Amino acid sequence: MTPQDPTPLASIVLAAGKGTRMKSERAKVLHPLLGRPMLFYVLDALQEVQVERTVLVIGHEADQVRQVCGPAHRYAEQTVQRGTGHAVLTALPALEDFEGQVLILYGDMPLLTGAVLQELYAAHLASGDDLTVLTADAPELRDFGRIVRQPDGHVERIVEARDCDPAEYALKEVNLGAYCAKVGLLREFLPRIGSQNAQNEIYLTDLVALASAAGRPVGAVQTADLESSLGVNSRADLAQAGLVLNRRMLHRMMLDGVTVLDPASTWVEPGVRVGPDTEILPGTMLSGQTVIGTGCVLGPHARIVDSRVGDRVRIQHSVLLQAEVEDEATVGPFAYLRPDSRIGPGARVGDFVEIKNSVIGAGAKVPHLSYVGDADVGSRANIGCGTITCNYDGTAKHRTVIGEGAFIGSNTSLVAPVRIGAGAATGAGSVVVRDVPAGALVAGVPARPMRRRDDVCQSPDGQTPNRGEES
Ligand code: UD1
Ligand code: CA
Repeated sequence: MTPQDPTPLASIVLAAGKGTRMKSERAKVLHPLLGRPMLFYVLDALQEVQVERTVLVIGHEADQVRQVCGPAHRYAEQTVQRGTGHAVLTALPALEDFEGQVLILYGDMPLLTGAVLQELYAAHLASGDDLTVLTADAPELRDFGRIVRQPDGHVERIVEARDCDPAEYALKEVNLGAYCAKVGLLREFLPRIGSQNAQNEIYLTDLVALASAAGRPVGAVQTADLESSLGVNSRADLAQAGLVLNRRMLHRMMLDGVTVLDPASTWVEPGVRVGPDTEILPGTMLSGQTVIGTGCVLGPHARIVDSRVGDRVRIQHSVLLQAEVEDEATVGPFAYLRPDSRIGPGARVGDFVEIKNSVIGAGAKVPHLSYVGDADVGSRANIGCGTITCNYDGTAKHRTVIGEGAFIGSNTSLVAPVRIGAGAATGAGSVVVRDVPAGALVAGVPARPMRRRDDVCQSPDGQTPNRGEES
């Protein structure tokens, strides 16, 4: 409802059907599109026209739908699915105390936009008709109901495709499946709809013929936005709808200054925020409540879920789950950041590295082939190739703490709980079972204190290490 117009607007969304053609245990309207149930997109579009209340007609998997959609809506349970007209009838008791206009939508139309609903509602108010149907000239939508007009332009009836005679079937104007009606018209005519049709169902579309025959004006508003009318009836439709929603999402991001090299292979869910001048390379999926800063390069092939990424971060061929990566850090290729990993500013997590529930300090490096779990790695520490935090003793998880500027030699096993002091070093192949004081060097199995000698803690490429520098 527009602010200047006081006419109350409610909505009814039909979501009781089984969705037989989906061949699924799950209610059709709960099938996800970009990570969210398809029904949520319909409810979002309704928010844009500011409906006063929404009644969801549920039936198939009713409890599931109710649980997912939450208490913000009213629910009407249609225990037997006897058709779309019957479904709307089921919703009317929830509008008993309501006077005004009612938008009626199908829950399987996730591409419907707020703009199209606004178009329908505005046309309905402007015409003063009792009922307005959203239509389009789209003969390619062969399965859609056909609109039969009266000579004066009002709508006489809607004929379902399977009930059409050849002349009706040839009509170009089709019913997209969104309506706006005066609530009084629904109360008066819905109970009178019969079920004499190919499916023996009580069709909502038959409301048009009944109202029209009784002299109640029924109008139609044609939209040019055909895309928004896709009804999801099968998995193929679902994929089609996903493509459109993803394209819309990427388009908005591109307008906001994000480069998307290959929109066809890039998927971004609606809860994701990406800063300007970030470049997204092919094969990248950004999901959940992910937030990405500015000037990053993501991908190729990055999967980032519920994570926070700072500015000027580079992430390639990696998976991030509930992780945090601060400014100017680099991740990958082939890194796996699991929940509660925080990679500090300028830090580097390289190839075949898994990090879990750990903090990697500013400028620290874990360049290759390591498992770092339940650890705190100090700033500028260098974790040599093949280092593993042995965090699990078969019963409990323990922490490893590595001090600032420490140098962990290649292939070190850090048997937690264990602390490596600041500036300490471990020799290649050490198994560290006791705490190492700051500045000390340990080596061997189990690791023992050594006189500091540079050749004990060689990096894998045989270079003499500079403590705190990358290997
Ligand atoms: C409907 C329209 C058709 C229109 C097309 C647009 C009718 C009779 N036909 O056909 O004119 O061109 O949409 O996509 O309305 N539902 C219930 N309870 C029921 C039956 C259906 O809640 O008893 C719900 C379904 O869950 C679905 C929606 O209503 O979300 C539409 O039903 P569906 O069977 O998909 O209608 P169509 O055959 O697509
Ligand atoms: Ca449908």
